[in-house]
Amino acid sequence: MSTSTSALGETLVDAGSIRARIVEVAAEIDARYAGADQPVVLLCVLKGALIFSADLARQLSIPIEIDCITVRSYGPDTRSAGEVELVKGVTTELQGRDVLIVEDIVDTGHTAAFLQRNLVELGARSVRLVTLLDKTSRRARHVHIDWHCFRIPDRFVVGYGLDHGERYRNLVDVRAIDVV
Ligand code: IMP
Repeated sequence: MSTSTSALGETLVDAGSIRARIVEVAAEIDARYAGADQPVVLLCVLKGALIFSADLARQLSIPIEIDCITVRSYGPDTRSAGEVELVKGVTTELQGRDVLIVEDIVDTGHTAAFLQRNLVELGARSVRLVTLLDKTSRRARHVHIDWHCFRIPDRFVVGYGLDHGERYRNLVDVRAIDVV
């Protein structure tokens, strides 16, 4: 639980734009996996991608299975220092499977890089990444992002699954927050 105070700022991505963009991205994902010989494993990165995953999953027409993974990145409050730890792994056997990582945000890229490496080690046949938000200006390492919904500037954001000290995940819009 964060002890800092914070003030909600402007809306960077509103709920209507999120809905519309998910429809577009889901169509691209459907096209990419069309004709696959087995269901795609949609891997929700908890907790931030919970709401995005649920909405994306319901716009997909391809056969999917859903699993969740929990990771923790270390660093002061709103900044990731590059240390990523697996808190709870997947329960699905991933050997030979097509895995689509569903992220809330790619910031420094440490989490996405960690997951991509981890899933390849588990024997996945393909590992792709879709993220709701892409904060490119803070990238510390290269990660290949297959689909992003929105690029955002270097602001700390909350809502639509993203939190600050576990709060604000239930906001329908993505909003900037000034952390004091
Ligand atoms: P990374 O820096 O790309 O490894 O991102 C690590 C994690 O930090 C993300 O999955 C988010 O959970 C969290 N994070 C990064 N930027 C923000 C933000 O602006 N708001 C809320 N969480 C964030």
